[in-house]
Amino acid sequence: MATATKESKSSKQKTSGMNSAMDLFVHELSDIRSAEQIVISMLEQGIKAVTNEELKTGLEAHLEETRGHIDTLDKAFKELDLEPEDVECEGAKGLKRELDEAIKEKPAPLVLDAMIAGGAAKTEHYEISGYSGLVDQAKLLGEDSVAKLLSQNLKDEEAALKKLEKVESKLQKELVGESKK
Ligand SMILES: [Fe+2]
Ligand SMILES: [Fe+2]
Repeated sequence: MATATKESKSSKQKTSGMNSAMDLFVHELSDIRSAEQIVISMLEQGIKAVTNEELKTGLEAHLEETRGHIDTLDKAFKELDLEPEDVECEGAKGLKRELDEAIKEKPAPLVLDAMIAGGAAKTEHYEISGYSGLVDQAKLLGEDSVAKLLSQNLKDEEAALKKLEKVESKLQKELVGESKK
């Protein structure tokens, strides 16, 4: 045990402060909190840009859920007695840039809807992989109540992905039908 402490102390001198499983976990937790904030702005953009009512309603519902995800993450930080780190999620920023580009290109409304539904599904996959890893990490660290909180968000993301994939498939079919006319 004493050796481990010594080792972590000596590695602390060489690195920038992220030295333990807990450090990594808190970093990832902060990163996904940043991702959720970026997702809020993406959903707001998407709601304004889409034409399809089913897609719009789905995005609106997930916007509400996403606000809840941030509250859940804040509860997790409270549980750990820690504050989120000041980080920006580069992955979510990239997904947002793709959305910005799609809107800027001004494609036909049905094409834009399909692009936004597809982008939203990609974003859900990104969140799902983030939360899956975090739930595992929390369990390994013995932070069971935090794992439970994170599992709630994970379930929401999985349900949101299923709904989005349904709408995306409908839009793609409609689009293929239109293209054949
Ligand atoms: Fe989320
Ligand atoms: Fe989501």
